[in-house]
Amino acid sequence: MTAPAVLLTGATGYIASHTWLALLAAGFKVLGVDNFSNSSPEVLNRLRLLSGQTPLFEQADVCDGAAMQSLFQRHRIDAAVHFAAFKAVGESNRKPLDYYANNLGGLITLCQTMARHDCRALVFSSSATVYGKPEQLPIREDAALASTNPYGATKLMSENILRDVEQSDPRWTMALLRYFNPVGAHESGQIGEDPRGTPNNLMPYITQVAVGQRARLQVFGNDYDTPDGTGMRDYIHVLDLADGHVAALRYLLQGKRSITANLGTGRGHSVLDLVHAFEQASGRSVPYDIVPRRPGDVDACYADPSLAQRVLGWRAGRDIHSMCVDSWRWQSMNPHGYAAPPAR
Ligand code: WQD
Repeated sequence: MTAPAVLLTGATGYIASHTWLALLAAGFKVLGVDNFSNSSPEVLNRLRLLSGQTPLFEQADVCDGAAMQSLFQRHRIDAAVHFAAFKAVGESNRKPLDYYANNLGGLITLCQTMARHDCRALVFSSSATVYGKPEQLPIREDAALASTNPYGATKLMSENILRDVEQSDPRWTMALLRYFNPVGAHESGQIGEDPRGTPNNLMPYITQVAVGQRARLQVFGNDYDTPDGTGMRDYIHVLDLADGHVAALRYLLQGKRSITANLGTGRGHSVLDLVHAFEQASGRSVPYDIVPRRPGDVDACYADPSLAQRVLGWRAGRDIHSMCVDSWRWQSMNPHGYAAPPAR
């Protein structure tokens, strides 16, 4: 029985690189593709170090139909995990056309190429952002969907496109995974989150303050309807998220019908909860200032993860302390991310 071959798009990105390692450990063959528009080729060196094998990789843009056709002609691919997408909420408000062209164009090109090569098992990287401002907490998969920015709209539209594709041809089987807030890093400290420019997300901003790259954290509002007034989110360890993708692929490759599932812990933590947990885990202080709310932010957002547990046999097991310990190890070993070799 030959190992199933899985194509990862956006393969050198934060969540994809961790998923790559988890898939190899689970016995899958992996082919990575990325155009390095938001990631570093150095990730491939780190994956080689961690896996003991040279990663099978091709540089290409998933929007490039000719390149994707050539890739599928030269490699046997049983399933794909589609991570490649632009993901910065603020940037999507400034450049909506880039987001629609890249995020929707890439998905459509990938699906067209897959179908042409009789490959119809797809795991899609969706996001809790499709829930907009949640009416009920914890959030179930049948909650109302709404987009509050072009990035979130591309995720919602992508889900609709995939549901139409599946309706049109029942040979397709898909897992639409709605991530909550991914944080943390591989326990080696060799791979982790390395945002370009000023981090949009909370954890990389915290770690850059702790390592001295930035002076102070800005806490976006403390007048939300939460216990301490700061925004509450469902932070999930990226290694748990990676395991969720392995579980989803195993599910699809057993010929099971499509699923849409929340990948979260089911627990909410506020901004200040995370700051304090990080200070305890790292031994570093994270000075902060309370500033006005960031437009578009919601008070609280955390998952009901019971469907993934019931159907995929998956649940997140790592707690907020290990998320902080692992985030700190990555950042303290790589003060400049992938731009420089890791500190010993
Ligand atoms: C978390 C909390 C902020 C930064 C977004 C996308 C989502 C996914 C994850 C792509 C909020 C507060 C943040 C800072 C702060 N992205 N914060 N100071 O907004 O929940 O989700 O990123 O897949 O789809 O919507 O994550 O980390 O930006 O914010 O106070 O410097 O931290 O207000 O309460 P968010 P986040």
